[in-house]
Parts: sequence; structure tokens; C-alpha cells
Amino acid sequence: PVRQRLLVVANRLPVSAVRRGEDAWSLEISAGGLVTALLGVNDFEARWIGWAGVNVPDEVGQKALTKALAEKRCIPVFLDEEIVHQYYNGYCNNILWPLFHYLGLPQEDRLATTRSFQSQFAAYKKANQMFADVVNKHYEDGDVVWCHDYHLMFLPKCLKEYNSNMKVGWFLHTPFPSSEIHRTLPSRSELLRSVLAADLVGFHTYDYARHFVSACTRILGLEGTPEGVEDQGKLTRVAAFPIGIDSERFISALKLPKVQEHIKELTERFRGRKVMLGVDRLDMIKGIPQKILAFEKFLEENPLWRDKVVLLQIAVPTRTDVPEYQKLTSQVHEIVGRINGRFGTLTAVPIHHLDRSLDFLGLCALYAVTDVAIVTSLRDGMNLVSYEFVACQDSKRGVLILSEFAGAAQSLGAGAILVNPWNITEVADSIRQALTMSAEEREKRHHHNFDHVTTHTAQEWAEMFVSELNDTVVEAQLRT
Ligand code: UDP
Ligand code: G6P
Repeated sequence: PVRQRLLVVANRLPVSAVRRGEDAWSLEISAGGLVTALLGVNDFEARWIGWAGVNVPDEVGQKALTKALAEKRCIPVFLDEEIVHQYYNGYCNNILWPLFHYLGLPQEDRLATTRSFQSQFAAYKKANQMFADVVNKHYEDGDVVWCHDYHLMFLPKCLKEYNSNMKVGWFLHTPFPSSEIHRTLPSRSELLRSVLAADLVGFHTYDYARHFVSACTRILGLEGTPEGVEDQGKLTRVAAFPIGIDSERFISALKLPKVQEHIKELTERFRGRKVMLGVDRLDMIKGIPQKILAFEKFLEENPLWRDKVVLLQIAVPTRTDVPEYQKLTSQVHEIVGRINGRFGTLTAVPIHHLDRSLDFLGLCALYAVTDVAIVTSLRDGMNLVSYEFVACQDSKRGVLILSEFAGAAQSLGAGAILVNPWNITEVADSIRQALTMSAEEREKRHHHNFDHVTTHTAQEWAEMFVSELNDTVVEAQLRT
């Protein structure tokens, strides 16, 4: 069978480049849920278009990197420093990201952001046009073009202007906020209109899709139908496609001798203590300070547990040029230092906080030895860490504490202990509940989650989206 050709367009390529010489590059897997999910999509003739995460001002470098990336079926979009500053650090990560996660800016930054808004939005549009140019150059008739995330809300419109027959889908990996929030964006209408140029628009949950449709009806005055949004007879299909992971990849990794070895070492190291685990990009939306404060409260109220539990927090550095992220880093360090000072002994501390990423096999081993995983996102599109933990727990059957504000709460809610991360008393309580839960109950909860994670894979997610996109285009042709 001929496989569907797919152009996957995302700001972040699955590999990031590190320069080793004038024309020498090495490639590393990029961090984040979008990349993990897309790496789990295999049964397409796919090519990736995106930014390799570095500034490459010279032609020699660009040529060499283009060649190195081609081996991974990746095509680079080169963004210069100024564009990255205004588009990526500015508009994407300082404006859209906090807004879509219902996080306001601190008072002192608010006015500054308001003033730089216009130039950042201009850079955003310019960057999206640059992505469109690269897509257009590589597009062949019959390709499906799949645009991803909040960085590229302008892309569907740019692509349709090039070629109105192009099949264009757009998927958002973050929440889409209530229309009351979206309304505050100066560029609210322009963004919605450009997304609506796509044939199919997808979200992780039904709620996000509903918010998007009501933003279109309230802000643009368009008609919302059960199918999507209609504008003068033209329908943009809007639907929910909850993402999954490539669970098999995690399950089979656990069988590797190297991982088994690592599991043994970790078990030995933490013998006599229960292991709690957090794995997050060091991002405001992850509620890391809230999680650590809840853990402190738990230790405070349960003195007998003080030398019997350890919290491992992996905090992967991310978007380090954005001031808000720099502030978060020092804030978290301060809290961790204080708590370790307060409850640590000469030989042990309650919190191990790592500001670094882990490789895939190391991460799998860590998931496997964990007794309680804790996800306290204040908002999170889906949260794949919770899925990955469940996939690696088939022998241990540990407990998942999960924020009700993560998209994953809708699929893993029956197996996890759901919490409101803002309520530290409740979270501290759920830690106690998780640590003392009976084997029977853990088994039951794990079973529910494991079943979901292994039957809702990234591959199926992609197949559903692409087939819905193909159907939508056929139906539109039938209507005209
Ligand atoms: N991850 C990573 N490097 C690490 C630790 C984790 O790339 O050192 C991965 C993790 O396996 C997961 C992703 O980053 O697939 C995080 O996805 P999630 O949906 O939980 O959150 P996001 O980072 O996309 O907000
Ligand atoms: C989230 C976003 C992705 C992004 C990832 C990592 O998952 O939805 O689009 O790639 O975070 O962030 P970064 O800014 O490093 O790409």
C-alpha cells in the first residue's frame, strides 16, 4: 500500500542541533511532549519541518546542517537571533503560552509586554511566513500538511494563500482557554481567522475545542455547529483528538539489560525509602513550587515519614532566555534548599532536585522504581509524563497523583488520585494516601490506567487526525 505522505510542521524539530565545528553538527533529541508524541508516529511517509534550536548565520553552517538533518527526514527553518527573541521568547513564550494556561504576567512585566506587543506580533507573523515558505518549497500534490501548536497559528492562512487546495490541519498541544481569556489578546481576531483557514482544527480535549468554537462565535460572530465553525458556507471542522504515547517503546525498554541493571542500582540506593517522582520541564505551568510546598507540609505533619520517603524532582531546563523562567529557577532552588535544610540529616535529604534532562533509558528506569509519581500542573494540555509513568509500572503498580487541570485527568482520572494543585493541604493529604494505599487498591487503579495508556497510542492519534482531515476535504469538495 502507498503510505500517506505527511509534512509535519512544528516550531521544534525532534532533534536539536549543536555546532561542533564550521561544518560539523551533532543532533540531540529535543525535550517536550510534542516531540515525544510525534516520535511515536511511524506509519506515514513523514517529513518534518521546523527550527533546529540554534542560530546559524553562515551559509557553510546552514548547508552542513541541512544535510545532517536530511538523514533524519528533517528540514530546517532558519530563524535569526532577532526573530527568535521576538517571536519565540517574546510572542510565543511570554504572551501566548502564559495566556493559554490561564497564568497572568507579574504586574511589573505587564506594561512592558503591552508595549512590545506590536513588534512581537509582527515578528510572529513573519516567522510563520518563513515556515510557510519552506513548506511550500517541499510540498507535493496529495501531501497532508499538519501544523502543530501555538507557535504556528498563522501558518494555515499563509499556506492556503499559496495553494487553496493544500490539505491543511492544525493541532494545539496546549489548552485553549475560555473565550473570556482569549478576548484580552490584542491580536485575538486575526489569530482565530488564520487558524480557521485550516480544513481541520484539533485539540486534546472536548473542553478546549468548545472554548475555541465559542471564541469564534463570540469574538468573530461566526456560527458554531456540532461539526465546527461556519463562515459564509465554508466549514472548518473542529474536534478533539486526545493524544497518547508509544507505550510499547517504554515497555520494551524496561526489558533491556542496561535498564534492568539501572533499576537494580536505583532500588539499592533508595532501599528503605519510598520513592516519589516528579518529571517536568522547569515551567511555571507545572506547579513545581506548589508540589514542593505540599511535600513540605506532608513532612511537617507526618514526622514518622521523614526518613522513609524521598522526592526526586527532575526539572528539565527550558526557554532559559525568558526572564520568567529564570525567576522560576531561583525560586525553586530557594524552596528546595530551605526544606532540605529543615528536614535533612547528615546523611540524607528529603528532596533531590536535578536541573537537567535524562536520557530515555535512564528515565524509564526511574519511572519503574517509583512508588508515587506526582504531577501538579496548574494547567497542562495533556501531560505525557503521567502516561509514561503508567506504562513503566506494570510490575510495581505505583500510585499516580495527578492535577485535575491536566488534560490527562480526563483519561487517567479513575486510576489516579486527582488533586487541585493550589490546595496544598489536599495535595499533602493525597501524598499520605498514596504512600499508604493497599496493594489491592493500587492494583485496581493501575489496571485502569495501564489499559488506557496501552490502547490509546500516538500512532492511532495521528491516524485518526489524518483520516478525519482527508474525510473533511472530500466532504468539502462534495458540497461545492
Ligand atoms: N522528557 C525529556 N527529557 C527529560 C525528561 C523528560 O524529553 O529529561 C520528556 C518526557 O519523557 C515527556 C516530555 O518530555 O515525553 C514531557 O511531556 P509532557 O507532555 O509531560 O509536558 P511538556 O514538556 O510537553 O509540557
Ligand atoms: C510544550 C509545547 C511544545 C514544545 C515543548 C518544549 O510541549 O506544547 O510545542 O516543543 O513544550 O518547549 P520548547 O519551547 O523547548 O520547544
